[in-house]
Amino acid sequence: MPFDNVTITDNRTNRTYTLPIEHGTVRSADFRNIRTDPADFGLMTYDPAFVNTASCRSSITYLDGERGILEYRGYPIETLAEHCSFLEVAYLLVFGELPDRTELQDWASEITRRTMLHENIRKFMEGFRYDAHPMGMLVSSVAALSTLYPDAKHVQDPANRLQQIKRLIAKIPTIAAMCYRHGVGFPYVFPDNDLSYTENFMNMLWKMAEPKYAANAVLARALEVLFILHADHEQNCSTNAMRSVGSSQADPYLSLSAAAAALSGPLHGGANEQVLRMLEEIGSKDRIPAYLDRVKSGEVKLMGFGHRVYKNYDPRAKIIKWTAEQVFRVTGRNPKLDIALELERIALEDEYFIERKLYPNVDFYSGIIYQAMGFKPEFFTVLFAIPRTAGWLAQWDEMHRDPEQKIARPRQIYTGERQRAFLAIEERQAIAAAKG
Ligand code: ACO
Repeated sequence: MPFDNVTITDNRTNRTYTLPIEHGTVRSADFRNIRTDPADFGLMTYDPAFVNTASCRSSITYLDGERGILEYRGYPIETLAEHCSFLEVAYLLVFGELPDRTELQDWASEITRRTMLHENIRKFMEGFRYDAHPMGMLVSSVAALSTLYPDAKHVQDPANRLQQIKRLIAKIPTIAAMCYRHGVGFPYVFPDNDLSYTENFMNMLWKMAEPKYAANAVLARALEVLFILHADHEQNCSTNAMRSVGSSQADPYLSLSAAAAALSGPLHGGANEQVLRMLEEIGSKDRIPAYLDRVKSGEVKLMGFGHRVYKNYDPRAKIIKWTAEQVFRVTGRNPKLDIALELERIALEDEYFIERKLYPNVDFYSGIIYQAMGFKPEFFTVLFAIPRTAGWLAQWDEMHRDPEQKIARPRQIYTGERQRAFLAIEERQAIAAAKG
């Protein structure tokens, strides 16, 4: 029977240390006991970009990147995408269990009655330029909610946290839809509380003069599936931002706007926008090999490919491919799909991608569906942020319940100068003048 510990010999002192192993992990703080003398600070671990550091314990999302497995609270993503509504999944993420019928009805009604926005937010959003990027609008507007709900600062009160969780899950589609309508120059549409979460979102996006918006059932379900797939993904860049900012006890609106800002980057949730731009640039199947040559020479990245954790096919990408077929039956086939399928086929047979275990990720196909539904690429990341709000908030709540968590504060390896002699500005000026 192997021991659950590791023995380390410090060759500087010839001393040995035994560190406990739990969940295949050693505590970095245990390394602090490894020191050359009592004045020594102790050994630190260096992990830029957190490639091998667990920052928390979590029971929300399980991800096995080698086998391509994704589960929320123990349920496979494929099962949830097939059988659940987005609000059911949001409940699962927040409370840890799937709701029964009464719980789901209560939860849906708690969310639905909070979908309206304060008029000040509408006025605030009107101030954006006509061509403002929707992610910039979303990030700022979510942060602005903080000014309307000062009670949200009581982050250590679980009941208060739940109140803010409901508000944010309810209001994020309304803000997102306003970003969209602002961009196309249409008046904002009020939420319709008779509709489901995704139908109401479609209503706020696309209602024109008709008295009641009727959502296409296939598109509403496709959006629901896409929302489920994007709802959480354990400790990614934006979730880490949510936890990190939240760890200072900042309120959830400010923390979530930081998370959304992290999501907007092209290496994270902004990749779906970049995939579309890349497919536009490639233009036709015969130009794929030349584009892949540019990828392999390091000139560009193949957007929508590769993942820090998945070293196998992203299970979400498989479901998205299936969803695309459903959507195209309504909207007509997006010709970019053929380029994307061919690009994937060639890439997956290429030594460069095989060697590095680079597979399509969630962003590779989602944009093609969104474009077929009528969204412009700059809006794709907003469509990611809506469902991820549930995940960010579940993670934020879990962090506040965890007695081991404190303010997130990494160490550094200082590489700069020390103890320099100060020169008065006259002396610096004289030196500069002498140098010419
Ligand atoms: N195209 C070409 N080469 C790639 C790609 C890519 N998309 N992704 C990784 N590689 C290469 C790297 O250059 C590196 O090669 P090397 O070993 O010769 O230096 C090797 O594969 C390992 O990649 P890393 O950059 O070390 O992987 P990391 O875990 O740091 O990055 C990331 C992950 C950011 C997702 C990366 O794969 C990437 O930039 N992909 C494109 C952007 C993208 O699709 N992002 C969305 C991710 S999913 C999401 O956030 C929702």
